[in-house]
Amino acid sequence: MTPIDYEFLRKLLKERSGLDLSADKQYLVESRLIPLARKAELPGIAELVGKIKAGSAALTAEVVEAMTTNETFFFRDKIPFDHLRESILPALVQARASRRSLRIWCAASSTGQEPYSIAMCVKEFAGLAGWRVEIVATDLSQEVLEKSKAGIYSQFEVQRGLPIQMLVKYFTQTGELWQLKADLRAMVQHRQLNLLQDFSHLGTFDVIFCRNVLIYFDQDTKVAVFDRLARMVEADGVLLLGAAESVVGISDAFKPYPERRGVYRVNADRTGRAGAAAMPPGMKVVAAR
Ligand SMILES: C[S@@+](CC[C@H](N)C(=O)[O-])C[C@H]1O[C@@H](n2cnc3c(N)ncnc32)[C@H](O)[C@@H]1O
Repeated sequence: MTPIDYEFLRKLLKERSGLDLSADKQYLVESRLIPLARKAELPGIAELVGKIKAGSAALTAEVVEAMTTNETFFFRDKIPFDHLRESILPALVQARASRRSLRIWCAASSTGQEPYSIAMCVKEFAGLAGWRVEIVATDLSQEVLEKSKAGIYSQFEVQRGLPIQMLVKYFTQTGELWQLKADLRAMVQHRQLNLLQDFSHLGTFDVIFCRNVLIYFDQDTKVAVFDRLARMVEADGVLLLGAAESVVGISDAFKPYPERRGVYRVNADRTGRAGAAAMPPGMKVVAAR
């Protein structure tokens, strides 16, 4: 690939998905885009770039999809789901007792393991019986959303992070594949959404999972996304980030909960919103493992 083509693709990916590739990632781009060029019956990346420059929206979307990393698994990192069950949901059940409804957003939901892990936690949480709980799963990639909607996983995928009792309870087996039961699938609404674009139309949420996507963005993009996320979380709601992500040193739109790694609340001092602790002092603290 020529340096000029690489620079063109770098700029395109940054604009379209926020992916911030360093100058030395040609091999990654080649390994993902050469198969795509072949599929499109083009001799190589130069011709792929040529088609994109000529305005092929379909190929542009395919390039963006091919460069996204969709790695995910059930109950990924375990601790965020412990926080959800043991601190976040109990506090919200108290705080929302009169309205009996909750809204949870799983941004960058990939093939569904994360929103369905949330759905299983909600389903298992006795205090939410009879409540209206909306779980909204969004991703840039239509392809992963389609897989998520189907809720069909391989033996390998269900063996990654999913406790056996959850597998037996919430899935049905067809040959080598496992499908989530319809009632659990119905708990999750899917929508295509690019985090670089306005998402205020989704309304506000009590809990936002935005994990393992911001790591691909540059500093300015992270700051901008944190600012917009802060407007989407209820004043007493929470944001959960991935194990390798943090707001610290990047944005003051959120403040970390010291004993709850990966959990953040809106910084009321900065946003000027009336803040209240979602997890009042004395709530059970889950120790970092
Ligand atoms: C590594 S996966 C993380 C999945 C899940 N959140 C987890 O932690 O297991 C990252 C996901 O972010 C999505 N993504 C990448 N850029 C995005 C963007 N600009 N807007 C929305 N989703 C994006 C990708 O399509 C991919 O499914």
